[in-house]
Amino acid sequence: MDDTKDFGTPSANSEKLVTLNIDGVDVTVPEGTSLMRAASVAGFSVPKLCATDSLEPFGSCRLCLVEIEGKRGYPASCTTPAADGLVVSTQSPKLAELRKGVMELYISDHPLDCLTCATNGDCELQDMAGAVGLRDVRYGYEGENHLDSKKDESNPYFTFDPSKCIVCSRCVRACEETQGTFALTIDGRGFESKVSAGNKDFKDSECVSCGACVQACPTATLIEKSIEEHGTPEKKVKTTCAYCGVGCSFNAELQGDKVVRMTPNKDGGANHGHSCVKGRFAWGYTTHKDRITTPMIRKSIKDPWQKVSWEEAINYAASEIKRIQQKYGSNSVGAISSSRCTNEEVYLMQKIVRAGFGNNNIDTCARVCHSPTGYGLKQTIGESAGTQNFDSVMKSDVIMIVGANPTDGHPVFASQMKRRLREGAKLIIGDPREIDLVGNTPHIKADYHLKLRPSTNVATINSIAHVIVEEGLSDQNFVKERCEDESFKIWLNFIKDPKNSPESMELETGIPADLLRKAARLFAKEKNGSIYYGLGVTEHSQGSTMVMGIANLAMITGNVGREGVGINPLRGQNNVQGACDMGSFPHELPGYRHVSDLATRALFESAWNAKIYDEPGLRIPNMLDEAISGKFKSLYCEGEDIAQSDPDTQHVTHALESMECVIVQDLFLNETAMYAHVFLPGSSFLEKNGTFTNAERRISRVRKVMAPKNGYEDWEITQMLSNALGYPMNYKHASEIMDEVAQLTPTFKGVSYEKLDKLESIQWPCNDEFPEGTPTMHVDEFVRGKGKFFITEYVPTVEKVNGKFPLIMTTGRILAHYNVGAQTRRTKNSEWHDEDLIEIHPHDAEERGINERDWVGINSRSGDTVLRAKITDKVQPGVVYTTFHHPVSGANVITTDNSDWATNCPEFKVTAVQVTKVTQPSNWQSKYQKFSEKQIDFVKNGEEKVS
Ligand code: SF4
Ligand code: SF4
Ligand code: SF4
Ligand code: FES
Repeated sequence: MDDTKDFGTPSANSEKLVTLNIDGVDVTVPEGTSLMRAASVAGFSVPKLCATDSLEPFGSCRLCLVEIEGKRGYPASCTTPAADGLVVSTQSPKLAELRKGVMELYISDHPLDCLTCATNGDCELQDMAGAVGLRDVRYGYEGENHLDSKKDESNPYFTFDPSKCIVCSRCVRACEETQGTFALTIDGRGFESKVSAGNKDFKDSECVSCGACVQACPTATLIEKSIEEHGTPEKKVKTTCAYCGVGCSFNAELQGDKVVRMTPNKDGGANHGHSCVKGRFAWGYTTHKDRITTPMIRKSIKDPWQKVSWEEAINYAASEIKRIQQKYGSNSVGAISSSRCTNEEVYLMQKIVRAGFGNNNIDTCARVCHSPTGYGLKQTIGESAGTQNFDSVMKSDVIMIVGANPTDGHPVFASQMKRRLREGAKLIIGDPREIDLVGNTPHIKADYHLKLRPSTNVATINSIAHVIVEEGLSDQNFVKERCEDESFKIWLNFIKDPKNSPESMELETGIPADLLRKAARLFAKEKNGSIYYGLGVTEHSQGSTMVMGIANLAMITGNVGREGVGINPLRGQNNVQGACDMGSFPHELPGYRHVSDLATRALFESAWNAKIYDEPGLRIPNMLDEAISGKFKSLYCEGEDIAQSDPDTQHVTHALESMECVIVQDLFLNETAMYAHVFLPGSSFLEKNGTFTNAERRISRVRKVMAPKNGYEDWEITQMLSNALGYPMNYKHASEIMDEVAQLTPTFKGVSYEKLDKLESIQWPCNDEFPEGTPTMHVDEFVRGKGKFFITEYVPTVEKVNGKFPLIMTTGRILAHYNVGAQTRRTKNSEWHDEDLIEIHPHDAEERGINERDWVGINSRSGDTVLRAKITDKVQPGVVYTTFHHPVSGANVITTDNSDWATNCPEFKVTAVQVTKVTQPSNWQSKYQKFSEKQIDFVKNGEEKVS
């Protein structure tokens, strides 16, 4: 597929076809296609400047004029629809003269510094001047012009140079149509018209640096600073963003082996050519000076690191694992993989544990984010994954978002969702905070914001279902045909109970009953209702109950099994779905098959030539508890930073200190690595082959763009460790690992790198029945056969507010940063967010004498920390909110070890706290500063033993 071809205008969706003749060639296109696109389909290229196929046609530049037989004048081909029987000429002497005249006007007000321009050779204005044969400008260059306009360099990633602007409006339209931010306008009229970011610098404007305007600009007016610095790229390699669960496809553009730009791929199934600031611009961490590329070992965390050869590091790690197992037993070691790893890496991690360590002590960071999704969806509908693709949202009539903040957490999908909302879909938001989609984003306003109290999700979803049942709004046919009768009857009895009514629950949830009833009616009455949710659902003591409540709601309203509907978990990190699919939970082999299942074990035992233990292994919290009690002694941790990301930091670091050999495989000396004895330097996503699976079950290729700076791809490191342990692995390429996954996992049966190269991406299940994948699941029946309703009794959390801890703290993310921030903090994204703040309602702040940016101490039952205050009414009284992107913030020093009853997913979203004005950092922060400075010093001043 040629993802660079620009057809000028978007494709039309009509099923009706029209046939016309263009320059002597008959061409058939869907009704609604522009003449420009039809000409492009026929193989002709009409000159254009203001048109591009990612944006609706605008018709301003007048370069794309054509002649139509029997019609007067010269219509713009970008805005004129193709019609049956038209005879169109794209070239004639008159058209050439007109186009030349248009180009002359543009060029006479252009710097013409092409030879020294950073985009020389990659500029549509230059191309068009050539295409229309412009050689000279009759008007001269001395007239009134914009050549002295001042450059705006405020954005860290791109420059705006108005002297090169042709006012084609592509940037303005990209910001509106593609991104949905409406940060740009054209100010003034005629000669005075100019692009404006609201009369502010880009950095201070509404701009969120998604790059859509830079992508759309046909000149060097909006241009990446990396291109200004290094020049235009020579080649490109298609790969997948390593940040969030949207899974955007990108072209890594290179000069030699240096990446100079990442551009979103038009054929990307998840992003269709769009991007956000992280994937588009924040890749500089891959070459950051903090990166460690030489293996290191040490006996104790009080010792400086010793830089050693790969052989020595691997042998040392293997000998320690063997020694510990001999001394403390087979169960004393385990591993944690990460959703940042590729599928192939995760697969090898669980394989080395099961076949090499001989136990099932493998867990993943999904434990602390979406494990309730896996559990809840498996129970109710039979598959631990979202039901739709992202495009499905374009057919939703009502969208319910619960506990998710898509504009910050899943920005590219948020843009698509905003497009649908601007088209008229209704919106219900369930969130304690006023997220942007509530009404702080242009042209979007939620129909209902259910501002529930943190921890009352289940009470809220039960009340919604109660109203739907009580008012006879359920889809009885769907329930009758698609769901288990018995479980439904039991559930019906439960949900009808007046205790679940919005009036009964109002005191708990804080949502006015009348408002909740209206929202429930809206959701039930619209034809296609979809539910999107995030960590605000799962990271609760009733996370799994809430996921089942969401599934119950989707089933009772018949909203599963077609486009526009469904249950859509918005996965946080890039490969949460894949990490779970690949068997990285202690109780499940790849494909969510329980380790106690004899047939599954037999299949893997025969393929792996190893015995698999039949009891579930330790979960992360169990590993930590057992480390403190002296039974768990060694951890192999790849790509995960539990010392920052897991709750109750002091408990985690105590556990790490209690172990005898902590092996960390990562890019940087992260917080966990500060407690490690072996550091195995990892490779970045640009340096390896593999696949990621996004929130839509879409498997996409990660391609090696450059050689690994550490010498090895991560899967090779795990393989070396396995071989040193005595369990042989001999993969030559990551594709062989995927072949093994396909051979052993029914839902991946048809997946191969060859097919991924051909199709770009595949949504599992991919098997004999669906060889090209499955965009929508549970179409005719649920994966488990009939859908099963579960009782979702609301049980208030044990984390109670009282006089000592009167506020509830909840946590979340912001656009600029990704999870623990280890990557994004090492990019210019920190310019937007260089510290975590505590958001507090003006009323609570005033009561405590707290002013904007005051230092405040936050105390919980687990610990205390100090952050600066941000006073905002986006949080409700009684609730404070913070992010956790900077280790020194210690957000997880205060979170408790309460967790989901079914999966142990921590209750990050509910911590009772007190907030007071203070003047100095917390004890923990002071100790942390000293400890981390020392550990960094241990790397800098470590002994070199590498030959
Ligand atoms: S970078 Fe994105 S948000 Fe910013 S002005 Fe351009 S299109 Fe708009
Ligand atoms: S900045 Fe670029 S895209 Fe925007 S109006 Fe100017 S030339 Fe067109
Ligand atoms: S961070 Fe997410 S939304 Fe942004 S480019 Fe990457 S995958 Fe896409
Ligand atoms: S490309 Fe058609 S008017 Fe500009």
